[in-house]
This record gives sequence, C-alpha cells and structure tokens, in this order.
Amino acid sequence: MIKIYNSFFLIDKLEKNSRLTADEYSFLIKNQNPNTSDYLFSKARKIRERYYNNDVYIRGLIEFSNYCKNDCLYCGIRRSNSNVQRYRLSEKDILSCCDEGYRLGFRTFVLQSGEDGYYTDDKIVSIIKEIKKCFPDCAVTLSIGEKTFEQYKAYFDSGADRYLLRHETADNEHYNRLHPQDLSAENRKQCLWNLKEIGYQVGTGFMVGSPFQTPENLAQDMLFLKELQPHMVGIGPFISHKDTPFAHMPSGTMEQTLFMIGLIRLTLPTALIPSTTALGTINPMGREKGILAGANVVMPNLSPLAVRKKYMLYDNKICTGDESAQCVVCMKKRMESIGCKVIVNKGDHVSFAK
Ligand code: 5AD
Ligand code: FES
Repeated sequence: MIKIYNSFFLIDKLEKNSRLTADEYSFLIKNQNPNTSDYLFSKARKIRERYYNNDVYIRGLIEFSNYCKNDCLYCGIRRSNSNVQRYRLSEKDILSCCDEGYRLGFRTFVLQSGEDGYYTDDKIVSIIKEIKKCFPDCAVTLSIGEKTFEQYKAYFDSGADRYLLRHETADNEHYNRLHPQDLSAENRKQCLWNLKEIGYQVGTGFMVGSPFQTPENLAQDMLFLKELQPHMVGIGPFISHKDTPFAHMPSGTMEQTLFMIGLIRLTLPTALIPSTTALGTINPMGREKGILAGANVVMPNLSPLAVRKKYMLYDNKICTGDESAQCVVCMKKRMESIGCKVIVNKGDHVSFAK
C-alpha cells in the first residue's frame, strides 16, 4: 500500500504522542524545507519552554587528553593522524580548570578525552573523587568512550553523575563505513544500555550529514533514541577534517541539523539537548539557532588555552583562541540576544532533579 504523508500532519502527530514510524521520520527528513522547519521549531520551542522555560544550562567542557587508541575515519584526533600534537592534562591541571569554571558559574564539568589508556581506572576514579570533594555541588560528566560494565560502575560509584557516548549512527552497515573493523554499533549500544542500568544520566547522539548517511539512517537514529530514552542527546553537523580519510567529504548542513534538533525535542520532550560547537562552527549564529530549534544546553570550553587548538575533531573549530572567561561572557550575551537565560546550577534532567 502506498501511503501519502503530509509533513505538517506528521509534526502534529509527533507533538501529540511523540512517536512516529521509520517511514514517517524519513518522509519528514527528506521533505524538510523552510516552511516545515519553522512549523517544527515553533512546536519544539513550546515544548522546551513547558519543561525548562527559557533557561539554558551551561556545561564546562574539559578536553583533558587528545590521545586516542581508535581510528574513526571522521575524527581529527584519530590514532593515525600523525600531525596532531598530543597532550595530556594532569589531575592538578584538571582541577584548576574546574576552579576557574566554578568561579565562572559552571556547576557541571564534562571530562572528555580520546580513548587514552594512560588514564587507568585508578586515575579516573581519583580525578572524579577529587572534583566531587572540592565541588560537592557540581555534577561530573564523563565522555571517555567505550569501557566495560565494571569500569563504568567503578566511575559511578566514585561519584560520576553522567556519561556522554554518542552512538554516531544506529545502522550497523553505516557504522562500519565510519569506523575501523574493531568497533561495532552493537558494542556501542550495549555500552549505552549498561550506563543506563548503572544509573547514570546518559547522553547519546550522532553526526548529521556524516559520509554515506541517508534519511533512512537518520530515521533509525530517531527510533533508537525513542527506545533508549537517553537523558541527553548531542548532535552536530559532520565537518570534514583535512587529515582524515573523509577530508574531501561534504560537511553536514545547518538546516538539516536544526531540523533534527526539532525532531528530537518532540520525540523526547524532556531531553537535555546541547546546541553544539560544531553547529556554531558551520554558521556564526548556529548555536543561537539550535536553541531556537529546541535545544537547551550549551557547552563552552574550559580547557586551558594552550591545548585548545590541539583538540581539533574537525576543521575550523570555534572558540579555540578564547579564554574561558571570554567564552562565558560571549555565550551569556548570545543567549540573552534570543530571549534566553544562562542558569547557574547543575541542570539535571527533570527526572533526576530534586
Ligand atoms: N565532525 C563533527 N563531529 C565530529 N565528532 C568527531 N569528529 C567529528 C567531525 N569530523 C563528534 C563525534 C564524537 C564527538 C565527541 O565529536 O560525534 O562522538
Ligand atoms: Fe567561545 Fe563565543 S562562546 S568565543
């Protein structure tokens, strides 16, 4: 049977029961245009405001190591990129980033790195405990890749609150075209289920416009989100990096990324959704537009200025030449310019908020 869809009707349907079929999502994505986008964004803003008003949560991102044992084809800090100047921050360096961040109003610290074996479980546990001891009113978010259930459990038991691990793409075959053979979509997803079971607030997400991605793949990503029910969903456009096998692949578009943000807001009404640095990189107003499409989180960089340019996941990444304090002032102004307010608190998901 041939089904005839209408985008506006489907957006209404999604708003009402936050559920669509894969075909319905694909149709919406294929037929995205300025009119359907505007319609979707006005609904997405209404839902964001219902749960979070015009509050925007900030997370301080600390990129503490750019060593990585993996070789993801899209990523600028992949193992085989010998042009990267590798660095590691010590526990003391990380704590001074937190110190500065706390003074600037951050109550969440996101510790992100490549998959770097130098940081043993003991080291990670010690960093988490130290941060929680010095900043008991702050949340610690880890973004350090695939680990075993026991490892995730050990970090959680030492005080980590949240974990970010993008699934990158829910489709096995697509996953295999973006990653080397030793990585699999299956294991990635299992990690996410493990994190949920342990009790983390879990964030996942994907790149929009990654090489070989189809609207059907994006529809599968949406169904995976609906199934996993993560607390946070981070998406951004794929942006090519000159020293990777995908150097000449076209980047994702702002329009499609914004549209996916809107769909995520309607699909997971209470999710914490960052308006990402990658979105700000492909368009000077990208982060503002992300919030206006339904996002409610921004993640300014707290890494020391000396290492910022070395954490280049993609070309032309913004905010690599700015002090953390400058970024915070800039971000507050940007959010105020669209009627939103940066909030000083942990910014837990509503289901975790006391
Ligand atoms: N373009 C956009 N996003 C990228 N990431 C990695 N490389 C790129 C790129 N070239 C994203 C991945 C990863 C997150 C930390 O950054 O989705 O999970
Ligand atoms: Fe970093 Fe504007 S947010 S310079």
